[in-house]
Amino acid sequence: MNQAKEKQNDKHSHDDERSTSPKSFKRVKYDTEENLKNTSANVDAHSNKKMKESSNSEIYDNTVLVAEHYNLLQNKDLTSRGKSRILYMRNFNNWIKSVLISEHINKLKQTYGSHIKVLDMCCGKGGDLLKWKMSDIGYLICTDLADVTMQHCQDRYNDLKRRNSHGRNSLFRAEFITADCTKDHLRKKFKDPSISLDLVSCQFAFHYCFESLQQAECMMKNASECLKPGGYFIGTIPDAYDLVSRWQKCDGNNFGNDIYNVQFFCDKTKPPLFGAKYHFQLEGVVNCPEFLVYLPVFRKLAVKFGLELKLFERFDSFYERMKDKNKSLIIRMMGLETYPPYSNVSLVGDPERDYQHAKQYMQNVSDRRQIGTLSQSEWEVTSLYAVFAFEKVKTGTKMENQNT
Ligand SMILES: C[S@@+](CC[C@H](N)C(=O)[O-])C[C@H]1O[C@@H](n2cnc3c(N)ncnc32)[C@H](O)[C@@H]1O
Repeated sequence: MNQAKEKQNDKHSHDDERSTSPKSFKRVKYDTEENLKNTSANVDAHSNKKMKESSNSEIYDNTVLVAEHYNLLQNKDLTSRGKSRILYMRNFNNWIKSVLISEHINKLKQTYGSHIKVLDMCCGKGGDLLKWKMSDIGYLICTDLADVTMQHCQDRYNDLKRRNSHGRNSLFRAEFITADCTKDHLRKKFKDPSISLDLVSCQFAFHYCFESLQQAECMMKNASECLKPGGYFIGTIPDAYDLVSRWQKCDGNNFGNDIYNVQFFCDKTKPPLFGAKYHFQLEGVVNCPEFLVYLPVFRKLAVKFGLELKLFERFDSFYERMKDKNKSLIIRMMGLETYPPYSNVSLVGDPERDYQHAKQYMQNVSDRRQIGTLSQSEWEVTSLYAVFAFEKVKTGTKMENQNT
């Protein structure tokens, strides 16, 4: 796993005929071998200290901030979405999620047949409903902290159901629960608390629970406890190594570009395992407290709840691995911007500054008139993220690296 991660960081010039991406950032590790060995001890020590230090109101405030932020986000219509500076990056991220979801659903269908049951934790406004429809699942539980957001999600589902009423295949059934996945016991809120789930998905949200060990454990328990053995817990999160690497390279605690900004609020020399807080601002999309998810701790917590890490891969590497197999999908989803643009179309980024990588690429190929790419600024954001997948261990299975 680590070797693979190391390898993927030292690229990158994409020589695919359809696409090319800017050079990715090199990372500075902030975990040492020693740190890794001591993770268990650190987690426990940290947990005791943090529990004494942090009052409930401090935790409560951050959760309220997050809920308020997402409740206030406007439901943008397609025309204004089409004008967005980050249109292609959003589509690209959606493509990543689609591929991650379909890869795992397909594996599950091979073993368990077609009636797949899914929990979408922190589902937002239901941005993945169409993906669940395309995967032809049987049942979906949607949960989110923000009540207005949840209502949007439910409305969207009802709309989908109405439009699907004449379709050949019936739409999956669904239930909707407003709850805090880092504090509430989700199973108790399910219509059927004894439900056995095949897949749990948590997209762009798991990092909210790393505020404290208590919250991370609650989230992990929620993700794992209803999963059947062999089921998957999948998701997307910012890669803490990359965030910290960029932070270490900048003066002060603030870095970014014209579309994103990160500001850290903790000790730069030794970020804590939990509660390593930063604000992530992205073109009006996210602007609330988030927390570093330190992979070795994430992995250890998962072991405690019977989940074994199967995949942790940054978006750039995942894209490289999956692009050929899912080429028509990325074109259909408009996950890349055409360069050079068509005569009546403007590039979303700065034509001089944001496309040097594409320009260079075009100079070295003679048989391509156009390629698909992302602007440098968008690439700097999306390459911060990683996909993950855990598998629920089968009873009696000895977990790999249990004692590391
Ligand atoms: C970036 S959005 C992602 C939404 C969706 N998963 C997607 O990929 O489109 C993060 C979502 O996580 C939700 N969230 C944040 N903290 C949460 C918590 N503690 N419990 C439940 N939902 C939470 C927010 O309300 C928001 O809808």
